[in-house]
Amino acid sequence: MNKGWKTQAGFLASVLILGSEGLFALDEITFSKDIAPILQENCHTCHRPGQMAPMALMTYEQVRPWAPVIKSRVEAREMPPWHLDKTVGIQEYDNDISLTDEEIAIISAWVDAGAPQGNPEDLPVAIDWPSDEIWRLADKYEREPDLIIRSTPWTQSAQGQDQWWTPIIETGLTEDRWVTGMEVRPTMQSRPVTHHAVVYIQQEEEPDDFVAAVDVPGRGSYLTEFAVGKIGDVFRENTGKLMKAGSRIAFDNHYHSVGQEITAQTELGIWFHEEGYVPKYRVYSQALGVMQAMDTLDIPPGKITTHHAYVPLTAQARLENYQPHMHIRGKAMSMEAIFPNGQVQMLSHVDNFNFNWHVNYVYSENSAPILPAGTMLKITAWHDNTADNPHNPDPTQWVGWGQRSYDDMYHAHVNITYLTEEDYHQIIRDRRSDEGNE
Ligand code: HEC
Repeated sequence: MNKGWKTQAGFLASVLILGSEGLFALDEITFSKDIAPILQENCHTCHRPGQMAPMALMTYEQVRPWAPVIKSRVEAREMPPWHLDKTVGIQEYDNDISLTDEEIAIISAWVDAGAPQGNPEDLPVAIDWPSDEIWRLADKYEREPDLIIRSTPWTQSAQGQDQWWTPIIETGLTEDRWVTGMEVRPTMQSRPVTHHAVVYIQQEEEPDDFVAAVDVPGRGSYLTEFAVGKIGDVFRENTGKLMKAGSRIAFDNHYHSVGQEITAQTELGIWFHEEGYVPKYRVYSQALGVMQAMDTLDIPPGKITTHHAYVPLTAQARLENYQPHMHIRGKAMSMEAIFPNGQVQMLSHVDNFNFNWHVNYVYSENSAPILPAGTMLKITAWHDNTADNPHNPDPTQWVGWGQRSYDDMYHAHVNITYLTEEDYHQIIRDRRSDEGNE
């Protein structure tokens, strides 16, 4: 990218960009040279034929009519779907698909300049997209999934309301197995109608096992989902999820109509640790706040509400991800840590929640919060039941906790690894010495 000032006749066509490195000028911004590479890297995963987005954004002809809408969606940080507040909390995530401030400024400046095409010879080399029919984690594990569980097929009509299809399927396991990785994918023909798919596990837990207390009522314990920017779940070294003999998988498939009748099915692929191997740590999925939300959620008509839930950590732990869950009146959700000494730290804040998107924010190896026993996790949820909320179907209704999408709820799906005291101190020491070396 040319950051130098242009001095000759082309000056008027160059644009000032305020990026994180300060103000700089760019030659005339063109689709071929500047915009296509940004779209290729950040948008084509979804905005190409056969994928979930409503239109392809590959060629100049495809992109040009959308230019003004693209500008407003990227400036509002609605697209790509990454709705985290960039000004507070942890910013390092394994699956970050957000645009940089510079990229947003370049797109805006290009649209303001009339969205010129430029020289097609400047276009980036086309990406050879992998076949959509593969399991994306198969490369990593060097084999197809050990077990594939399929939801029973559902036929989504050409027109009509969104549908939730929630079959429960036996895993067929006759002995307990430890999961090292999982991936959810709609079958090829299901992709256009599958908005998202959440997968829960139902199995007996020991009564005193804290995991039993954090199930999502009626569904089971949250397992994984087909979601934005997500390749699958790969559990860190020494960790895994326990899938017991006789367990069942509950699917929550959210389908929308696309003008053509389509029969849809979701597949859950599971890779196990080798038989007999027991990882040091069991990863627990918790729905933080769900109990408090069931008891206290109270959203009067015409109001914006704030609710808090506090969940104590019974042992020192690492949080692996953050995935807020609310319904159509959901506005924002944060997760803070209140340390035993009273100090408060913001971990992650989604300030621009959108019910259509179940974005899972996966902490990186070095950013995952390592918290002492006795830490209180504080979930704060904001709901907007006013007429200003464009998604609100009826601001005159009182809303409480419930499963239907016209009811509401709030909780955060968080995978928690409870650490031994020794490992906890070791990780803290390692991180301190890494910081020292920087
Ligand atoms: C993870 C998949 C995904 C990624 C990545 C993504 N989009 Fe989208 N986009 C969608 C889906 C699905 C919709 C329709 C639903 C919605 O609007 O939320 C959409 C909607 C849009 C719309 C609005 C269309 C309309 O009818 O108003 C625009 C504009 C857009 N995307 C642009 C972009 C751009 C530009 C990028 C990259 C910088 C991008 N998107 C990245 C999936 C994605």
